[in-house]
Amino acid sequence: MTKSNDRDQVLIFDTTLRDGEQSPGATMTHQEKLEIAELLDEMGVDIIEAGFPIASEGDFAAVTEISKRTRTAVICGLARAQLGDIDRCWEAIKYAKNPRIHTFIGTSPLHRAIPNLTKDEMRNRIYETVSYARNLCDNVQWSPMDATRTEWEFLKQACTIAIEAGASTINVPDTVGYTAPKESATLIARLIEEVAGSQEVVWATHCHNDLGMATANALAAVGAGARQIECTINGLGERAGNTALEEVVMALKVRSDIMPFSTKIDTKKIMHISRRVSTVSGFPVQLNKAIVGKNAFAHESGIHQDGMLKNSATFEIMKPEDVGLAGTSLPLGKHSGRAALRAKLTDLGYEVGDNQLKDIFSRFKELADRKKEIFDDDIIALVSITGDSSDDKLKIVSLRVLCGTGGPAEATLEMEVSGEDAIATEFGDGPVDATFKAVRSLYPNTASLQLYQVNAVTEGTDAQATVSVRLEEDGVVTTGQAANTDTVVASAQAYVSALNRLFVRREKFGSGTDKKEISYKELS
Ligand code: KIV
Ligand code: ZN
Repeated sequence: MTKSNDRDQVLIFDTTLRDGEQSPGATMTHQEKLEIAELLDEMGVDIIEAGFPIASEGDFAAVTEISKRTRTAVICGLARAQLGDIDRCWEAIKYAKNPRIHTFIGTSPLHRAIPNLTKDEMRNRIYETVSYARNLCDNVQWSPMDATRTEWEFLKQACTIAIEAGASTINVPDTVGYTAPKESATLIARLIEEVAGSQEVVWATHCHNDLGMATANALAAVGAGARQIECTINGLGERAGNTALEEVVMALKVRSDIMPFSTKIDTKKIMHISRRVSTVSGFPVQLNKAIVGKNAFAHESGIHQDGMLKNSATFEIMKPEDVGLAGTSLPLGKHSGRAALRAKLTDLGYEVGDNQLKDIFSRFKELADRKKEIFDDDIIALVSITGDSSDDKLKIVSLRVLCGTGGPAEATLEMEVSGEDAIATEFGDGPVDATFKAVRSLYPNTASLQLYQVNAVTEGTDAQATVSVRLEEDGVVTTGQAANTDTVVASAQAYVSALNRLFVRREKFGSGTDKKEISYKELS
C-alpha cells in the first residue's frame, strides 16, 4: 500500500478523456485532448485514462500522442475483453513511460446476456484476456463492468481469476450509479476480505452519479480499503456523469481529520482545468456545483457577508485560493495595456505565447470599447473561447436584427460560405430564431439543435453572454461556444462555430457516426 506523510495515499485515476469524453456531445478535438492530458499530468493525476483506442481512429491517435508526450502520469487505454482490442490498446500506449492496459467485461446478468456468454465461458474469457494483456504490458487493470449488480459469488470468482491471470489493479465499477455509500463500502471490504490474492492488488472504485451519490460512494469505498478513485473533471460523463475529481480530492483534503488519506493533486490547479474542460467539452459547470461552480465561494446574503468580514472561517470550510481561485482583484479597463493583460493571464493560470496574446489583446480591446470594466471572468471567457480560424468554411461578416413587440423578428445576415459572400434576411419567433434561420438559408443543413444555452459571464446589463450550441447530424455531435456582450451575436457565432466543427468532422471521418464506431457496451 502506498504511504505518504504517514497517510495512505489514494491514487487518482482520471477518465475525463475516456468516460467523460464518451458523454454525447462532449467530443474534444485532438489538440484539446493533448492539452487536457498535459494539465492533468501537471496537476499530479496518477493515472490518465487517455481514451479507448479501438473505438475510432481519433481515439487511437490521441492516446498514442498523449503516451509519447506525458512526463509523469501512467497512461492507460481501455480495451474490451477481446484480443484485437487489447492489441490496439497496446499499440497506442506502448510509447508511454508507464503504460497500463485497462480491460473489462460486463459481469452482471444483464451485461452477460449481451455477448451471450455462459458463466464458464466468461471465466475463460477473463483469464485469456487478462493474461494476454499481461504478456504485453506489466501494468494491467481489470474491471467487472456493472459489478454492483453482479451476483456476489460470480463477482468474487471473476476477480480471483483476473488476479491469477496477472491484473495488478481491480476496479469495481458502479456502472449505472445504483449503489449507496454503505453498500459500496461493504462490497469493497468483502472483496478484499474474501478474494484470494486481494492483498497483492490495488482496489479501485469507479462510480457513476445517477442517484447523486458518486462522490459519497467513492469515499465510502476508500474508507473500506480502495486505494484508487476513478473520476473526471467537473464530474463529466455519460448520463449524470462520474465521480468529480475536484470533489473527492477536496473532501479528502478538508476532512483529513476523519479520512486520513492523501493524494498527489496540486489543488491550486483545479479551477483552471475545470474551466478548460468545460470549454472544450461544451458542458457548462452548474452554478452551484461543489468546488468549481461559480457560486461555490460566493456569499450573497447579508448575514453571511457580515460573518465573512469578521472571520472567513464562519462560512468557509476551504479557501478559494486552495482551488486556484484568485482573490478579488481590480478589473482591467480600456486603458490597460498588453503587459497588464499578460500579468492578469498569468495570475489566472494561463501561459500564452506571443501570437495568442496578440489575438486575445485585440479581442480584449474590442470588448473594452463596449464594456467599462473587464473582470476576471471576462478574461477567462476571452481566452477560453478562441476567435475564428482562417480555415473556417463559414464566417459571419455582419448581422442586423430587428425585434420587439408587434411582429416577428427580422435578421439580416451577411456570411462568407467557402470564401463566397452571401446575404439573407429571415423572419422568426424572436431574434435568435430569425438569426438561425438566416444561417440555414445561407448554408442549408440537416443538423438538429440539441442544446442552446446562454450564461451571463458577470453581473450587469453590459455583461458578456457565453452561448453554447450543440448540433447533431447523422450521429455526429459537435458543440460551438461564443462570448459577446450582444447575446444574439454570441448565439450566431456559437451556431456557426458548431457548424464549422461539424464540417471538419465530416471531412475527416465522412458522414455517419465518427465517434465510438464500436460502443464500449457492445461485447460480441
Ligand atoms: O462505468 C463503467 O463500468 C466503465 C467501465 C468501462 C470501467 O466505464
Ligand atoms: Zn464508467
